[in-house]
This record gives sequence, structure tokens and C-alpha cells, in this order.
Amino acid sequence: MDVRFVNEVRGDAIVLMATEGGALTSGAHALDVRLNGALTRAAQAARFTGGSGAVVEVLAPAGIEASRILIVGLGQIDKIDSLSIERWAGHAVKRLLTSGLTSIALVADGHKGVTAAESAARAAIGARLAAYRFDRYRTKLRPDQKPTLAELAVVTDGPAAAQARYEHDAAVVDGVHWARDLVNEPANVLYPEAFAARIKTTLEPLGVDVEILGEAEMEKLGMNALLGVGRGSARQSQIAIMSWRGAKNKAAQPLALVGKGVTFDTGGISLKPGAGMEEMKGDMGGAAAVVGAMKTLAMRKARANVVGLVGLVENMPDGEAQRPGDIVVSMSGQTIEVLNTDAEGRLVLADVVWHAQEKFNPAAVVDLATLTGAIIVSLGHEHAGLFCNDDDLAQALVSAGQAEGEAVWRMPLSPAYDKMMDSPTADMKNISGKPAAGSITGAQFIGRFIKPGMAWAHIDIAGTAWKPGPYEDPVSPSWATGYGVRLLNRLVASRYEE
Ligand code: BES
Ligand code: MN
Ligand code: ZN
Repeated sequence: MDVRFVNEVRGDAIVLMATEGGALTSGAHALDVRLNGALTRAAQAARFTGGSGAVVEVLAPAGIEASRILIVGLGQIDKIDSLSIERWAGHAVKRLLTSGLTSIALVADGHKGVTAAESAARAAIGARLAAYRFDRYRTKLRPDQKPTLAELAVVTDGPAAAQARYEHDAAVVDGVHWARDLVNEPANVLYPEAFAARIKTTLEPLGVDVEILGEAEMEKLGMNALLGVGRGSARQSQIAIMSWRGAKNKAAQPLALVGKGVTFDTGGISLKPGAGMEEMKGDMGGAAAVVGAMKTLAMRKARANVVGLVGLVENMPDGEAQRPGDIVVSMSGQTIEVLNTDAEGRLVLADVVWHAQEKFNPAAVVDLATLTGAIIVSLGHEHAGLFCNDDDLAQALVSAGQAEGEAVWRMPLSPAYDKMMDSPTADMKNISGKPAAGSITGAQFIGRFIKPGMAWAHIDIAGTAWKPGPYEDPVSPSWATGYGVRLLNRLVASRYEE
């Protein structure tokens, strides 16, 4: 979608703001006066509430070229923030995307706490997030199913300021869209080597250094925990290592972002039940969030040093697959008894977080993983689970999540939970064996590969990387959400940027 900031109202459809109770904002009011109060009358006739997402659509209005005017609710006036403006724009786009109209004008006024420039930039960002589609494999779409909106004009008093603000913030949309694409892609297309190739071709032109490790290199490094997971797959396992050095001092300790990239999780020999298994194409959602964030950081030239490492593996059962009861020696030297081959994400992360610390001596490690079904039992699809050994880092992540609409909820870590992962046969086992605290024990397992004194956060995104339909959040209109890109980008901006 082509985005412009302008100060005159023109488009096939014009979208206006109203607050709870139905009051029109200033730009909307001005148009209503021009149209002799037709909009106020339409809103009253429709019993329009102004609640978030409520819409009145006025067709073929007299006295103006536009074929439609939409009044879209923002919700309560004292609760309006940049996220409600994104959703406001999102509701309009959701309604008009396939309407046959090609251009839309969003009249974005400022509010208490949201400047006019911020409002206009957020409207554009919300509109683009809402226009996301994954149609690559739909060859028989009817004309009325195809997006027609191509031009977005955001109407604001100060187009130049809005444009500047938009250019500063919009890279997040590209990161989110890419993460959604990667999660939506089926596993026959996006297997580990294909994922690694996409990382290279997408990020290198943006100035990100990308190194790919294959199985031979991983063997040399002793990454047997990760390699064990990929043993049953015909596909080669990969690690992609991305480095963005945007700080003045390129040698300053980076933040390390680590992602679980299981391109398909059958469970391995501990095979998952068939129903719903197709969702496990999204088991690389942590890796998608990390690479999406790297894209955003590079596009907006973030003044921070950030490295991203993703472990790309397919968990399949075959004659070469690892068995329950196998013992593997991880890169750290610690031994792991693999009691359940379906608890594979932690095995992948064990070696990748270790390598991240050995190679980069980072300021902190943040890993994202679709690690446990149990986190969905705890938190549903509303919050990701946050496990963190550092209160300042945890607080920064909670605040970043609130600001970006990607909420995290802090969960506990403790020696008592850690002990549940002790094995009588090896240094640890990969499942506790008790139907209790499954997300926490998963986190404790990863924590055993974090060096003493290292600040670390683990974010379990099994409930948020994708979500069941209907897709009611207008700025997240597909199965894959792209969750984590905005969270990580905001974390960098708030805590690691110069
Ligand atoms: N990828 C799954 C976790 C998952 C489940 C993500 C549902 C998204 C939706 C993970 O590899 C897994 O299988 N975890 C097991 C752990 C168990 C064996 C300790 C689980 O959650 O059942
Ligand atoms: Mn699994
Ligand atoms: Zn998994």
C-alpha cells in the first residue's frame, strides 16, 4: 500500500474519527459542517456509539466526490493512545480492503497524549498491519476476495511532521509482515535450509552480517543437543547468526536475541496426536520474531549492537531419529537424558544460547520460543509467558509489551522448580515427568545453559505466535500474528539504544 500524508481530504472513501458517545473529532466535524450535518444525522440514525470498532458507513454522500464516508469509533476519549489509533485505522481497512475501492483517506486528528503527527503516523501503520494477507497459494480468488485498496492518504494538519514520524516508526511493519509470512509458510516450503536462505537474502542487503552454520560446523562445536533433534529429518539443520552493529562502538557488548526455529514439530518418536498437528508449521515463531526484529532494527538503522541467533531444525521420526532415553552431550558439556523427543525446543535452545554467550559475551540474552502447550493453559492467547532472572530486564519487557500491544506476563523461576529437571542418569532430563508447571520447568531447563551473572529472559510464545480465528484484532488479521517483533524492537529502543 502506497502511503502519503496530505492536508486535503480526497479519496474514494473517507474515514473519520469519533469518540465514545458519538462525538466527531475536529477533522470529522469540519466535514460534517461542509455536508450540512449529514454525518451527524447518519450517526444518529445508525445508533452509532463511537465504541472501538463501531462503524457508520454513508454511501454515495451528496456534495462530495467520495463514494463512501466511514465514521469509525475510537472508544473512550480518556483511553485513546497510539494503539487505539492503529486499531481505528485497522477497522477501516478491514472493512474496505476488498471493497472495490482503490484509495482511502484517513482523517487522523491528534488527541490528549497523542500529537497530530503521532496520530497520523499510527493510522498509517495500523492500516498497513491490517492490510496484511497471506494469499501466495490462493490461485482461484474471486475478484471480490482480492484486495483492491492500493493508496492510503492520511489527512493531517502537518503532513511533513507526520511523514517524518512515520519514516521513523514504520520499519516495524516490514518486520511484522515478514515474521507473519514465515510463520504462515508451510513446512514443505520453509524447511531449515530454505529459512536460512531467506534470512541471508533478506537481511544482508540491509547491512546485517549473516553467517550460516551447517551440520558439519555444529558437530565441530559439539552441538549434540540441537543435532539430536534434527537426526530424524531428511533436512539439514542450520543455525543462522545475524549481527547488526549500529552502536558508535561496534565492539560494545551486544544484546543477544535467540529464537526457536523448529520448522515442523511432529514430536519425533514421541509422536504428537494427528489432530491439529498442522499448526506445528508455526513452531519456528520464535525464530520468525528474532529475524523480523533484526529486519526492523536494520531498516531503521537502530543505534545499538544486536545479534540474533536462530536454531533451525525439523523434528521428525524415522530410523535415524533420536529415541526416548537417549543421552546427549550438549555444547556446554552438560549431559541431557531425552525422555521425550517432543520436548525438543529446549534441546535446540540449550546449544544456541550457549553458543550466543561463548561467541558474543552479550550484555543480555533474550530467547523467544513456542516452547510449551502449558503456557496456553496458563495465559491463553493474550499474554506470552516471561521468565527472567533480572528485574530491570523483566520490567523493560513488560513495559515494551504494554506499549506495543504484545503483552507479556511474568512467571516464576526458583531452585525448587529447577530441581524437577534433575535426572538420576545424566545431568538433567528434558521433561520433569510431572503434569505440573510445564512452562516453568521448560524455562528452568534453558536456564541451566545460561552462564552465572548473565541477564536472561525467556519468552514462551506458544499462545501468541499464532491464534485461532476469527481474527478480531484488526491489526492482526491472519493466523500468524508476527508476535515478538514489536516487543523486541521496543526493548532495544528503550534499553539498548544510544
Ligand atoms: N512446540 C511444542 C509446544 C507447543 C504446543 C507450541 C502447542 C504451540 C502450541 C513443543 O515442542 C512441545 O511439544 N512441548 C511439549 C512439552 C512436553 C513434552 C514437556 C508440550 O507442550 O506438550
Ligand atoms: Mn515438541
Ligand atoms: Zn516444538
